[in-house]
Amino acid sequence: MMPEELVAVLDFGGQYSHLIARRIRECEVYSELLPFSTGPSELRRLNAKAVILSGGPASVYDEGASTCDSEIFQMGLPVLGVCYGLQLMVHQLGGHVRTTRHHEYGKTNLRILDGSDLFKGVGDRIVAWMSHGDYAESLPEGFETIADSENCPHAAIRDRNRKLFGVQFHPEVSHTEHGTDVLRNFVTIANCRPNWNPRSIIEDSVREIKSKVGNERVLCAVSGGVDSTATAVLVHRAVGEKLTSIFVNHGLLRKDEEETVKALAKDFKLNLVYVDASDRFLQELKGVTDPEEKRKIIGEEFIRVFEEESVKLGAFHWLAQGTLYPDIIESARSGSPASRIKSHHNVAGIPEWSRFKTIEPFRFLYKDEVRKVAAELGLPDEVVFTHPFPGPGLAVRIVGEVTEEKLRICREASSIVESVLRAKNLYDKVWQAFAVVGDDMVVGVQGDHRQVGHMVTVRIVNSTDGMTADWTRVPYEILEEISSRITGEVRGVTWLTYAVTSKPPSTIEPC
Ligand code: XMP
Repeated sequence: MMPEELVAVLDFGGQYSHLIARRIRECEVYSELLPFSTGPSELRRLNAKAVILSGGPASVYDEGASTCDSEIFQMGLPVLGVCYGLQLMVHQLGGHVRTTRHHEYGKTNLRILDGSDLFKGVGDRIVAWMSHGDYAESLPEGFETIADSENCPHAAIRDRNRKLFGVQFHPEVSHTEHGTDVLRNFVTIANCRPNWNPRSIIEDSVREIKSKVGNERVLCAVSGGVDSTATAVLVHRAVGEKLTSIFVNHGLLRKDEEETVKALAKDFKLNLVYVDASDRFLQELKGVTDPEEKRKIIGEEFIRVFEEESVKLGAFHWLAQGTLYPDIIESARSGSPASRIKSHHNVAGIPEWSRFKTIEPFRFLYKDEVRKVAAELGLPDEVVFTHPFPGPGLAVRIVGEVTEEKLRICREASSIVESVLRAKNLYDKVWQAFAVVGDDMVVGVQGDHRQVGHMVTVRIVNSTDGMTADWTRVPYEILEEISSRITGEVRGVTWLTYAVTSKPPSTIEPC
């Protein structure tokens, strides 16, 4: 699952740090975000082929500013410092960093002075994204300037002999022209082999799962989402009949989800145990209005059902889960899951005390990479490109108590939102799109009658990872179609609104 070599990105806390690893992976080279304190022995153990020092909020002169082990510069590995990373390299190797109050922020014209290595093929000038206060005033011995800008005399630097590079701008953000080319040039300088692709990921994973599991049995919870489905199909490819998948229907699923999962399991010859526990969940949720309380009840009930079923099935040793890389980064960065805004429940959110050993084939992958792996595994587009759907299901889209009536409205209205977007080729272009229903009752008119019905809010957002999101500027005609279909086809809805808040200050899900 983890490839034989990597580009290590040492994280100094910059807001774009994780993007560096993503861009390197787009060059088909495996990369990981590691703590800034990672030293030479760990880098050797991981077989790092190159090191990137990320940006960060500090000044190198701040008390307690994060530094890296200076020995990293003596390892013979190519090193690229980005923003704070450049300043740190200059500072630690004997140059001088100047602190200013003047902050340079935004797009900057960069003049390329040497296009022979890092800037190969990018032309004489590029527009680059800058976000810094401090800058390198004088360079350490052996360094030369390979790009400058009006406000930054050493916008990119190099020590050709030691293969040390620094850029004051951010090549990882999309506003920087040729940013990925700069990173690709760096991995080429480091002689990294471009062998990180869906097929190699699958082959490596299958090999590793086979050798880990041996003759033992594996359990996997599936939900219909791309992460858990692809996990089950991949593990099945590795261990075949030794895998049993469980699908717990908590009654809070999307329209037709149950049939889709069953059909898929049949197509991929998965041994699927289907458990309809919807009555149990709805019973537990009766009268509960607090969002956190609802999440807690669903999470705990899920574990209870899952445990009961797995006991019935006999002895299992392994639990396969669709955990993704951002989950790992998020908990590693925050130090504890307690700092999360909402208590997230994953379908296979099995607690630590469980008796299972875990297989998490995607723990090093981003969502878009999982989608590529899923496509390579042969999963249909409806699954590969399905929008993320939270573990607690429609309960987080129902404000207040979860009732049969509100569930029906939420499910049917959401299905209409999705089908209109699909018909307009917009579904794949947005991150999530759904309907929210609460207890607001409003007067409408149907035929000659005044009728009191529910207010439904449609939420459509764009995002890359769910951490931040922007509300989607959907054309009015499409909103009009969604509105007339929902009020016309879903019984008990008289009013429709559109959510125009981004995250922050809102979250994506209302509960
Ligand atoms: P929020 O609402 O926190 O959601 O902005 C961010 C992203 O996470 C999804 N989400 C969840 N996913 N279990 C999950 O697996 C959960 O409990 C959960 N809650 C929210 C949400 O759909 C969005 O994509």
